Parts: sequence; C-alpha cells; structure tokens
Amino acid sequence: MGYDASNPMKDRITDVGPRDYKEFLPPVIKRNFGKWLYHEILEPGVLVHVSAAGEKVYTVRVGGARLMSITHIREICDIADKHCDGYVRWTTRNNIEFMVDDEAKLKPLMEDLEKRKFAGGSLKFPRGGTGAGLTNIVHTQGWLHCHTAATDASGVVKAVMDELYDDFGRMRFPAHVRISLACCLNMCGAVHCSDIAILGVHRKPPMVDNEYLANMCEIPLAVAACPTGAIKPATVEGKKSVAVNDEKCMYCGNCFTMCPSMPLADEEGSGVAILVGGKLSNRISVPMFSKVVVPFLPNEPPRWPQTVEAIKKILYTYVEDAKKYERLGDWAARIGWERFFEKTGLPFTEHLIDDYRFAYTTWRTSTQFKF
Ligand code: HEM
Ligand code: HEM
Ligand code: SF4
Ligand code: SF4
Repeated sequence: MGYDASNPMKDRITDVGPRDYKEFLPPVIKRNFGKWLYHEILEPGVLVHVSAAGEKVYTVRVGGARLMSITHIREICDIADKHCDGYVRWTTRNNIEFMVDDEAKLKPLMEDLEKRKFAGGSLKFPRGGTGAGLTNIVHTQGWLHCHTAATDASGVVKAVMDELYDDFGRMRFPAHVRISLACCLNMCGAVHCSDIAILGVHRKPPMVDNEYLANMCEIPLAVAACPTGAIKPATVEGKKSVAVNDEKCMYCGNCFTMCPSMPLADEEGSGVAILVGGKLSNRISVPMFSKVVVPFLPNEPPRWPQTVEAIKKILYTYVEDAKKYERLGDWAARIGWERFFEKTGLPFTEHLIDDYRFAYTTWRTSTQFKF
C-alpha cells in the first residue's frame, strides 16, 4: 500500500535501525572475520590483508568527492558488479574501497578505475589515500546546504585536492597528513583534531532584525547561546528584542543558530582560518587539538588561491623538515611554535593569542624559547 496522507500512522514502519553490516560482507571477509594476521600496502591505494587460513583480500582505495549523484553511485555499483561480485565499501574519510580475493583480479580492476574520467577531465576514481601521504578531506555542507556557513566546503576541498593531488597517490610524507574542513565553527567533522584544518569564520557581529526577532526566536535561548555574554534582552522601539555588545562579540554565529533574526554572514567579512597540529590517534603522543596559525583569509571562489597557497606552504615545510613518524603537531611541538612560524613564513599576530576564559595555560610560563 502506498502512503496515505489522510491516515499517516497506518502501516507505518519505525525503529527498524540500519541493515546488519554482515549482510554486505564479501564472502572472503565473512570467512576470515576476526582472523586477520597482517597487512601490507602494496603500492599507493592498494592493500593486502592475509588471514590465518592463508586467504588474501586485496583492497583498492579511490578518492570520492563525498557529494555524489545517484548516477555516480550506479557507476560504482557497476564496477563492483564487474570486478568484486557486487561488494564495495566506503571509508571513514569518504574514500571508496573495492575488494578482490585474487591477485589476478587486481590489475583489471585498477586499469578499469584509472581510465574513467568526467567530461571536464577530472578522474572519477583516483587511486591512493593510503599510508604516509595525503588522503581525502573530511568536510561539510558549505553553501550547498547549510544556513550557518562562513565559507564553502565542496569548492574549497576541490581546489585544495587539485593542488595537492600528486600526494594522494604517493606515500612520501613523514606520517599521515589529515586535512579537514568545516564551513563554520560548529566544526562538524574533524577540524579540531586534524593535522591541517580549514575553518569558515566571520568577522562582523550579527545584524539584529528587531522587527521580527520576538516572533522568530526564543530570546533567552539566543542570550544563552553566546559564549562571551555579548547578548542581552532589550526592548527596541516598543518591541522585545536583543542588544549585542559588539566589543564583546567574536562572531561565532552561535546566536544565529538559535535565532534566525541574527544573521552575520558577509561577503567581505566571512572567510577562512587555518589550524594545524591536531591528531586523534594515541600513537606515541597523546591526541592533540589543532591550533590557529592563520587567523583569516578571504573567500575567493571558485579556487580559493590564498587558502590553497597557505596550505601548500605549511604542508611542504613540514614534509621537508619533520622526522619519520612525526605528525605535523609532533613536529611543531618538537621544534617549538616560534620555529614553526619562522620556517613556514607565516606572520604571527595578536589574533593567535588565546584570550578565552582559561587562556592562561596556553601562554609561556617559562624562559625556554628560541630567538
Ligand atoms: C544548527 C545545527 C545544524 C543544522 C541546522 C543542520 C542541518 C543539516 C541539513 C539541512 C542537512 C542536510 C540534510 C539532507 O541532505 O537532507 C545536514 C546534513 C548533515 N549534517 Fe547537519 N546540521 C546541523 C548541525 C550539524 C552538526 C553539529 C553536525 C556534526 C556532528 C552535522 C552533521 C551533518 C552531517 C554529517 C550531514 C550529512 C552530510 C552529507 O550529506 O554527507 N550537522 N545537516
Ligand atoms: C572522534 C571524534 C572526536 C573527538 C575525539 C573529539 C574530541 C573533542 C574533545 C576532547 C573536545 C574537548 C571537550 C572539552 O573541552 O571538554 C571536543 C570539543 C568539541 N568538539 Fe569534538 N571530538 C570529536 C568529534 C567531534 C565532532 C564530530 C564534532 C562536530 C559536531 C565536534 C565538535 C566539537 C565542538 C563544537 C567542541 C567544543 C565543545 C564546547 O567547548 O562546548 N567534535 N571534541
Ligand atoms: S560546519 Fe557549520 S556551516 Fe558547515 S555544515 Fe556544519 S553547521 Fe553547517
Ligand atoms: S556571534 Fe557569537 S559572540 Fe557574537 S553575539 Fe552571537 S553568540 Fe555572541
């Protein structure tokens, strides 16, 4: 029976949860589940896992744009049907992995993937994303779908990956480099824990639509949304509204999230900040937050040249200078942040000095530093 709008609860199915992942495991994975002995990276984008029973599974990892059409997904399914008995998976960084159980099937799969291009010339399925190199950029909605964005997601990611493309397909870095992007400081995703992070930021306080604010917003919610206490309830021309203390506002946009009558996105005001040195793993050093090193670069659609340049400068200075296994944050911590700024040539400005609440611990309470 089709959906009946006059009887919405009839035949309603709910709380069934996701499908059980075991329904979709390739047979070789199912047979050897929990019995893997070791793995090797055969070449960039190609892995082999060997099980206790001596079975092998070969994985070919290719880049995905994350945002994709059903047409593209159908093409992925066609490839999986042709080479992988209909099985395929996505990674936690939105790469796509095709698996085969026989080395003989590997080459035809890779050759098939390599030759597929979009009409504009971009590779549909570039191989890579493994080992100590570059992998996909975890990113968000941007101007495509979110109302709180200070920058775009898909556009910036495409511009950055185009420039760094060669390193998606090779493994010559000291350690993994994780780049991520969030289009506002809700930070959906991983910007606060990535080697390099691109973050959409505003530079102007919200505009207040006094006319309709009381109708549109729960005023106490907007007041409580502000991390710096910049908002207070106010009566403006006889109407209930809010007043923003611009001196206290740091343009986080959280009040707009709560209250549609406080928009703050601005063509010149909004742009991106760059953070570096975060990591999530516990390998050698503990997980780290990324730190702001570039306070602002303008939005420059469609290719964001200044943002791309800054990222290249940071990334390749690290690649040249760091020791094996050092993540970007490990490297910066070892050489000291003053050396980081010296080597990358990035200007250090007052914007980078923490001034939020217990900021004190981020200042230097030591005479140990390098001139
Ligand atoms: C003000 C708060 C938020 C609003 C209004 C919002 C709104 C939305 C909307 C409209 C979509 C698109 C849904 C669709 O495509 O049909 C979406 C998708 C999504 N949101 Fe949010 N969101 C918010 C906060 C967050 C946060 C904090 C996170 C991170 C934990 C998040 C993660 C995501 C993800 C991962 C998607 C799917 C993206 C994809 O297409 O791959 N959102 N959100
Ligand atoms: C495994 C993934 C993640 C880890 C390990 C992680 C870790 C952390 C940690 C340790 C904090 C500091 C908490 C504190 O100050 O007490 C934090 C804060 C935060 N994280 Fe994450 N996080 C993850 C994923 C996310 C995601 C997906 C989002 C996007 C919605 C997110 C958004 C935030 C925000 C907005 C804060 C600041 C919260 C606040 O100060 O009120 N995190 N995260
Ligand atoms: S980071 Fe901000 S702007 Fe981007 S999708 Fe998340 S909430 Fe929206
Ligand atoms: S933008 Fe952020 S800091 Fe400014 S008033 Fe709104 S909530 Fe407060």
